[in-house]
Amino acid sequence: MTEPFDAVDVIRTKRDGATLEPAQIDWVIDAYTRGVVAEEQMSALAMAIFLNGMDRAEVVRWTQAMIRSGERMDFSTLSRPTADKHSTGGVGDKITLPLAPLVAVFDVAVPQLSGRGLGHTGGTLDKLESIPGWRAALSNAEIVAQLEDVGAVICAAGSGLAPADKKLYALRDTTATVEAIPLIASSIMSKKIAEGTGSLVLDVKVGSGAFMKDADRAGELARTMVALGTDAGVRTVALLTDMSTPLGLTAGNALEVRESVEVLAGGGPADVVELTVALAREMLDAAGRPDADPAAALRDGRAMDVWRRMVAAQGGDPDAALPVARHTEDVLADADGVLTTLDAYAVGVAAWRLGAGRARKEDPVQAVAGVELHAKPGDPVRKGQPLLTLHTDTPERFDRARQALEGGVAIATERTTPTRRTVVLDRVAG
Ligand code: URA
Repeated sequence: MTEPFDAVDVIRTKRDGATLEPAQIDWVIDAYTRGVVAEEQMSALAMAIFLNGMDRAEVVRWTQAMIRSGERMDFSTLSRPTADKHSTGGVGDKITLPLAPLVAVFDVAVPQLSGRGLGHTGGTLDKLESIPGWRAALSNAEIVAQLEDVGAVICAAGSGLAPADKKLYALRDTTATVEAIPLIASSIMSKKIAEGTGSLVLDVKVGSGAFMKDADRAGELARTMVALGTDAGVRTVALLTDMSTPLGLTAGNALEVRESVEVLAGGGPADVVELTVALAREMLDAAGRPDADPAAALRDGRAMDVWRRMVAAQGGDPDAALPVARHTEDVLADADGVLTTLDAYAVGVAAWRLGAGRARKEDPVQAVAGVELHAKPGDPVRKGQPLLTLHTDTPERFDRARQALEGGVAIATERTTPTRRTVVLDRVAG
């Protein structure tokens, strides 16, 4: 087959700062998916986009081309509206676990097609796989049946959704081109639009543990994604939320499941409850349930009932004991004072080095590994008290985990008024 464009011309166009033609974009995504555009050519183009950006029309076209590279799911046969949430990823971000069953309480179907963790941020599927028997892989028919029956599904995104993104994301990961706003926005939104949800709430993280370290860039990413979703007919809202310190008191797979179950039982850390309820309100509003009271459904056990049915429907035993690490070590406070910093990135890397995350996508993870927090920024602490507990099955990892935490913990010893940051920093609507 004769190709209508030459990859080198497309790369040169973007390298020189010009705008890509719609037909060039359609071709390059399709030809890359077919293997006609080589990996080294796409990596040069990704770097040119990283350096020179894309305008709004280019990002829209790029996203549409990625959607067309694969299948689109169809939830139109369901008897209830659909709402989904996507987080740009953070440390201790277990919110999907309590959120999906919570929203399903109100007769809204929640299809959470999720991924595994890479680097210092955890993956929802890795967390749930610490529940004995739980199965991540479901067919499209099983997803639809579970949405009708239980109302919520958290499972692996099938390989048919936006395959161009799957290839491109792996390439970006190895070519230092992940952090480009047009590439992140089109990557996330192509999968979410192809998934076919009616409404979508984006949790865009800001801070050391997030892709976006500052609020300006996070805001730009949020506005780009909200515009892409709205243009595609998906009711889309974004919350900008704090990721300067881990969410809740745990980072690590089984540790985070345990904490999520505490939230579903009406307890759990205040920041996890605050964010779960804030995102649930947005999802319920977007799905046409503005009067629902998600805080009450957490307190009175209705969300827990859906959680138990959701876990059991995927082969998991909601009553089974979660695995526990064979080895733990405490990190102690070295002064009296107020904890001012507990850096999300440092804790995320420590959890990863303890075995909670993977360096390459084929690596196994330890369900038991991770970091437990005993204080949050703003808390008064006493010299010698445990600030963190490190968990792992492989104690030779403790030293490297402690190194990751160096510089990530700060205690103010002079009189300091404790301050706590709110979790939700801003909101972007279409
Ligand atoms: N998550 C995605 O799915 N894609 C990105 O580019 C970044 C985060």
